[in-house]
Amino acid sequence: MTADLIIYNIRKLYTSTEKAPVKGNSMSKIKMISNAFIAIKDETILEVNSGDFKNYINFSTILIDANHKICLPGFIDSHTHLVHAGSREDEFEKLKKGVPYLEILKNGGGILGTVEKTRHTTFDQLFNQANKSLDTMLSFGVTTVEGKSGYGLNLETELKQLKVMHELNRKHPVDIISTYMGAHAVPKEFSHSKNEYIQKMKEDLVYIKSSNLTNFVDVFCETGVFEIEDSREILQAALDLDFKIKIHADEIDSLGGAGLGVELGATSVDHLMAISDKDIRSLANSNTIANILPGTSFYLNKPYANARKMIDQGCAISISSDYNPGSCPTENFQLICQLSANHLKISPEEILNAVTINAAYHLGISERTGSLEKGKQADIILLDVPNLAYMFYHFGINHVTDVIKKGKIVVKNKSLQRRKK
Ligand code: NIG
Ligand code: FE
Repeated sequence: MTADLIIYNIRKLYTSTEKAPVKGNSMSKIKMISNAFIAIKDETILEVNSGDFKNYINFSTILIDANHKICLPGFIDSHTHLVHAGSREDEFEKLKKGVPYLEILKNGGGILGTVEKTRHTTFDQLFNQANKSLDTMLSFGVTTVEGKSGYGLNLETELKQLKVMHELNRKHPVDIISTYMGAHAVPKEFSHSKNEYIQKMKEDLVYIKSSNLTNFVDVFCETGVFEIEDSREILQAALDLDFKIKIHADEIDSLGGAGLGVELGATSVDHLMAISDKDIRSLANSNTIANILPGTSFYLNKPYANARKMIDQGCAISISSDYNPGSCPTENFQLICQLSANHLKISPEEILNAVTINAAYHLGISERTGSLEKGKQADIILLDVPNLAYMFYHFGINHVTDVIKKGKIVVKNKSLQRRKK
């Protein structure tokens, strides 16, 4: 079969070829092909190999000379709070003076400050702000993004956020998987009774389900926000409606949220800076992914999750940005990878598995993306570096020069190509 597009002259191509989830020791396995080419037909990878590719060429095949760059699967940022209004640089000053994140929230700021703004911001304004962020993410090599609601905390605004993501998914080259996160904080109108808010959310879940805007539900399980039994009640209600579930767990306090996630069959448990050894063991015996968010540790000046220990004990980890206005305001996904190399003490191969195939797995899309293999979606990035390790070493800058999303060139020589899906 002839190809629509061939990328050739690739110095080195790196990809996972393992079956997801990739756990423990297997996380250091990455296939490397020198002098590689990739042939693409429509949205799909036809062949990944080295050597001769002339059998795939006809008169209309577009040839891209990779000029000895390296090639990776597009990055998958599997935990973000993409759609929100405004920013919180005022709060950054408080954080630096030592005011705790949870205290700012308790006093009506933090997440609740962004909720206030998001409620009063139009669909179009939210769309434009998130669209701009997505452009930046794409230019750094991200081809799929998970985005959570949770800055509405009422049905109307939660739906507004989910609809913005639905529209972005239709219009922007980056694929978006959305998650309902009404359980991000207790809104001020329910400050007299968290339980009343939980019951309201359980009613709302039925509407969210019938809207078909998302298949995932997430909860912020933390002291003073949703504690273990609150989280269990919300997540069980979500499971009863056939949602898949995720949980922000053991970020600040060690409540046992990761263990709860494993018990309920969560696709991922996220943060885990304060996870217990017991919960690391249960994670290792499950197919739940430990989703680590080192950008949040960096920005909040907190300890990093012990990813090394988790992998050594047999867990499967993914790594995400947690992009949001209050605990990780950056769309630079390569910086997140570089922080992982430095602070999580894990290898380039482990990081690559974490940000591609394992991230795809917990979003339920590893059959179609997350690795460069025949039959998979052509989500491909080229980086102007001599080898994989260099990307983590030379930090703080953008090494990605070209991005192919579903077989289309969407970033060329570092410039975004304006095209719809
Ligand atoms: O994952 N922890 C809760 N949610 C986000 C922060 C959101 C915010 O501060 O606006 C997080 O870190
Ligand atoms: Fe988060």
